Amino acid sequence: MLDDAKRWDLIHQQSEDDTTHSHYAEEKEKLFPRGSLVVDLGGGGGQDALYFLKSGHSVVVLDISEHALSRCRELAKANGFDKQLVTQQVDFGLHQLPIKPESVDAAYSRISLNYFGKNHTTKLFTDIFNMLKPGGTAYLTFKSPADVEEMEYLKKATSVYEPNVFIDNDQLRSRFSVEQLTEMLKTTGINNYQVNPLEEELAARKEGHKTKLFVNEIIIQK
Ligand SMILES: C[S@@+](CC[C@H](N)C(=O)[O-])C[C@H]1O[C@@H](n2cnc3c(N)ncnc32)[C@H](O)[C@@H]1O
Repeated sequence: MLDDAKRWDLIHQQSEDDTTHSHYAEEKEKLFPRGSLVVDLGGGGGQDALYFLKSGHSVVVLDISEHALSRCRELAKANGFDKQLVTQQVDFGLHQLPIKPESVDAAYSRISLNYFGKNHTTKLFTDIFNMLKPGGTAYLTFKSPADVEEMEYLKKATSVYEPNVFIDNDQLRSRFSVEQLTEMLKTTGINNYQVNPLEEELAARKEGHKTKLFVNEIIIQK
């Protein structure tokens, strides 16, 4: 059986040519204070991280895939931003987030925290809140159950671990609803948050691939 890191290395190897940053990154970057320290959790091959670097921020990319992180470093170097980027291999399911408390202006994670059950995801909200400076903000998106086609597939082809959490090929996949995410956030004691359902238009379009993504966005303010 492949471990998760190797599984993600393979996935990233198959999509290396894609260098387009997301619409979501572009929209949220406008809200970052100028010259921010941004932590991109599950930043993959670094497309969004490169956009943040080009916009004048320093970026830490955390990801389980060393292959993706090395691609991210190559992208940054090719564009002259190697000094503004730090990467670290981290499994969010196993490791503590390697970031000092109260050190980060913007925490960012686009569809990369969908691999855990309810309790662990809730713990990650607290860990992310802790890394924010006072005045800092977290922008996190999660694939949502509003994608009816995908939900039909998950219900048919996988087994249920918890409500809206599925076991697919030995990997957990969560599709928490707005209500579930709100309940989870309530238990953390974090006061200032929003949960917004969004449809993100995909920037990189490949033939036969989806053109939009159904997500729930969490914004946490400290
Ligand atoms: C769907 S991709 C999203 C990548 C990128 N954020 C984007 O918007 O294109 C999910 C990312 O999460 C990373 N990932 C998956 N499981 C992880 C885990 N347990 N710990 C850390 N990163 C993980 C993957 O390597 C991948 O880069």
